[in-house]
Amino acid sequence: MTNKYDIDKENSITDEFYFLNRRKIMASILSVPILTQTSMVSSKEQNLFFTKDLDYSTNEETNTFKQITSYNNFYELGTGKKDPMLNANKLSTKNWKLTIDGLVDNPIVLDLEDLTKKFPLEERIYRLRCVEAWSMVVPWIGFELQKIINIVKPLQKAKYVAFESILDPDNLPGQKRKILNWPYREGLRIDEASNPLTLLSVGLYGKILPNQNGSPVRLIVPWKYGFKSIKSIVRISFVESEPLCTWNEQTPNEYGFYSNVNPYVNHPRWSQKRERRIGEFGKRDTLMFNGYSKFVSNLYEGMDLKKNF
Ligand code: MTE
Repeated sequence: MTNKYDIDKENSITDEFYFLNRRKIMASILSVPILTQTSMVSSKEQNLFFTKDLDYSTNEETNTFKQITSYNNFYELGTGKKDPMLNANKLSTKNWKLTIDGLVDNPIVLDLEDLTKKFPLEERIYRLRCVEAWSMVVPWIGFELQKIINIVKPLQKAKYVAFESILDPDNLPGQKRKILNWPYREGLRIDEASNPLTLLSVGLYGKILPNQNGSPVRLIVPWKYGFKSIKSIVRISFVESEPLCTWNEQTPNEYGFYSNVNPYVNHPRWSQKRERRIGEFGKRDTLMFNGYSKFVSNLYEGMDLKKNF
């Protein structure tokens, strides 16, 4: 990201978990690749038990664990790309609570154990395309946000979902300065949030999410620019009106509410036509909706995506 600074407790593991459909392959902790880490990269050691999804995963080569954990945007931990890795230990995820509330029948609070054990976890290999024109392919582990929506049961007047990250200025170095209007916030329309591609991720490469990637829980919306994928979420609220989104609030002419990957809408300061996959030389064409058109283009039928960028 570049801105002006440049710069409940119900069945914890469901039967569904053991259901093997044709498109899912059981992966066990034994199949997790051996990771080559440097001491700078702090991975939480807990292995996750998950199935491998084939319906929504790309078969492109994944970026390495090192690339995914050492080149990040997480302004709470600093504005430099290496800052989130270097300051990763400043984020404490102990006693984490994720509150899900607002216009719902059944508000819930999830703790750390719920996040990794309550829902069947899947590995989804998704492209992450950042507005600054770099991209990565990441083996995220998580569950569909739809699973939470089914539990909390939004009321009919709930039209949007608002997300809020941790606020801890005493410990998070980036929050000691008003670089952004903290806490970091994001939002989705409820139909976008219900799309099967929309994930809440709790891990990558078979392990609990490293702090720099938004531990203990972050959003992944693969057809939108990376900044929509809010990290270290403490609250998800169902609301009636379009919620405030950090970058849209900061620079509305540069970052719209929708933020769909769109090679035909230039960022005011640069083109969005091409992208550089981290680890590659040269650039490749950026795909509409980051290559996920067949799953999501129906969400935007009849909308002018140049105006609703
Ligand atoms: N979430 C929070 N809370 N704070 C941030 O600064 N940066 C966003 C997004 N989520 C950000 C955030 C941006 S700009 C991007 S590109 C992605 O996280 C980067 O995710 P990654 O570091 O795991 O690749």
